[in-house]
Amino acid sequence: MQILDQHFEIFIPASSIQQRIKDLGVQINKDYRGKNPIFLSILNGAFIFAADLIREIHIPSEISFIKLKSYKRMESGGKIRELLGLEHDIFNRNIVIVEDIVDTGKTLNHILEEFKELGARSIEILTLLHKKEANRYPIDLRYVGFEIPDKFVVGYGLDYEGQGRNLKDIYKVISVA
Ligand code: IMP
Repeated sequence: MQILDQHFEIFIPASSIQQRIKDLGVQINKDYRGKNPIFLSILNGAFIFAADLIREIHIPSEISFIKLKSYKRMESGGKIRELLGLEHDIFNRNIVIVEDIVDTGKTLNHILEEFKELGARSIEILTLLHKKEANRYPIDLRYVGFEIPDKFVVGYGLDYEGQGRNLKDIYKVISVA
């Protein structure tokens, strides 16, 4: 399968993704019974995962979507990431952050700092994929769908240059020697 200049091969088929999401749902329903959690899903990549996951949740809960906007700071040339779309009052609430993939952990590290300041009662992370070898920030991941090698993946919400989010399976890049 080709997207733009890169070739990809099937890595995690849709059936395995769906089975794993069912298992995660069972665990979360148990862990969060009586806690009325708010699932905060990070756009764009996690939108498909969040949509499937939430339908495996059978306890009272809420879901909302947030986005991180990156832009260049004129003075330093460094990047600032601004949290957009957080409409919920998360003070004293049990938060589950729903991510598509944790690579270096930089994105989550940033979000966690902001949420702690907002006074959440608890914050746990649920990610479909985790590139273990790449994890540079020390972040506790409470729920991980699949541990994967440090290879670029697309599909099931994840993109390559904006393409491939619509694919039902997850594909990984074929590296040319
Ligand atoms: P981190 O901040 O380095 O943990 O990167 C997390 C974000 O980078 C994810 O939410 C994705 O948007 C993107 N990302 C990291 N690895 C991949 C990949 O293999 N495929 C597609 N997007 C990725």
